Amino acid sequence: MCAWLILPLILQFVDAVHYKNYFDNVQEFQVQWSWSYVNYTWPSANLYAAAVRNKRYLPQNIMVAGPRIFKNRVYVTMPKFRPGVPVTLGSFPLDSPEKVNIPISPFPNWEMNVQDNCRVLQSVLGTEVDRRGTMWVLDGHRANNAVNGIRCPPKLVLLDLNRNGAAVRSYTFPNELCLTDGGFLNDVVIDETGGTFAYITDNSVIDPGVIVYSYRENRAWKLRDGSMFPDVSVAGYIVDGFQMDFLGTVNGIALSPYIESRPRTLFYSSLTGTGVFALSTDILKNEKLSIGDSWREYVRLMGEKEGPSDGMFMDNKGNLYYGILSQYSVGKWNMFEHFDTSEVIYENRETLIWPDGFTMDSQGNLYLVSNQAFRFFVSNDSLQFTPDLVKFRINVLHTGRKSYMYDLDDS
Ligand SMILES: *[C@@H]1O[C@H](CO)[C@@H](O)[C@H](O)[C@H]1NC(C)=O
Ligand SMILES: *[C@@H]1O[C@H](CO)[C@@H](O)[C@H](O)[C@H]1NC(C)=O
Repeated sequence: MCAWLILPLILQFVDAVHYKNYFDNVQEFQVQWSWSYVNYTWPSANLYAAAVRNKRYLPQNIMVAGPRIFKNRVYVTMPKFRPGVPVTLGSFPLDSPEKVNIPISPFPNWEMNVQDNCRVLQSVLGTEVDRRGTMWVLDGHRANNAVNGIRCPPKLVLLDLNRNGAAVRSYTFPNELCLTDGGFLNDVVIDETGGTFAYITDNSVIDPGVIVYSYRENRAWKLRDGSMFPDVSVAGYIVDGFQMDFLGTVNGIALSPYIESRPRTLFYSSLTGTGVFALSTDILKNEKLSIGDSWREYVRLMGEKEGPSDGMFMDNKGNLYYGILSQYSVGKWNMFEHFDTSEVIYENRETLIWPDGFTMDSQGNLYLVSNQAFRFFVSNDSLQFTPDLVKFRINVLHTGRKSYMYDLDDS
């Protein structure tokens, strides 16, 4: 009786066990999914044909970034660095046997990805999923509107992943905090203490800074400091034969885990830079203090990475992971140790061309997307459609840790 009810449950359980064991054996980063180009789950052949015809879909211009894992789906972003990107937030099943060029479904749906409707998503790079399953989406890439035609102000959109991505809040940033033309909300960490805050990097070349958003007050403010500027001496490094002459501002961001009765520490780094800077969340959370300039004396330089990096990530044991763009590698430093103890833990000239962003799932797996991002935001050559060349990879490493959102003591 009721076997048809129980069977799916058993299968799900078997699947979860199988899946967990599989990643448990992954002792160094391994490619789990890869793409040479992105295709979508189009609603119909007609709509696909129309998108190709009117150039709203140019597969050579679509980049994969910002993976996040929640339950049985992988969420990715596709910022509109170039024209022809019809969907900016999408997802695909975590357990699908398909690992190469898996088609991406718009998330939450096509309607939420329509261009020129300022109420829906326009160009997303960074997201974060909090412990309750709310996705904090930075619809804030406004750095090259001349190319992608976006005229909507940047915003933070909260989607409930437990309710198919229903939008639960949208906060639009005023121009003083993030420029509608030239702003670039890049990466975000969530601090679920004292009313819940989001700390966001604005990678704008015009007005870079760290934006604090208070969930309780539905307000935001911005901290600007020289440590969030590029370090000119770092520019000019080579990636895959191209010289990186651009000057990138504050970009990677990481938050220390929760430790009882201690403020957390925010770590950040400029894209063109090697310094890892730290600031206490006591200062970030204090709007009055952060609009003066006395707080700047609390900015600490923790150390210099082996090279410039894009994304950074901290686990609940205080291990900071960062990509090293100039060395096709990943570095690791524990915040309780001197920065001299940092080390390169993995290097791969082929699979780590532009290690971009990290995330963790609830099973102790660390994910890293490498995506050759410079080809999309730097190169001014028209990109060719190269269906044989793998450009985007999501790599996985089993660490057995949790994300920074959990307590230091959680095992
Ligand atoms: C994209 O997917 C559609 C099916 O949804 C398929 O017909 C089309 O050939 C694909 N395009 C490319 C470039 O792979
Ligand atoms: C790309 O380069 C061409 C020729 O050097 C220049 O005319 C054009 O403005 C550039 N486009 C962008 C988007 O920078």
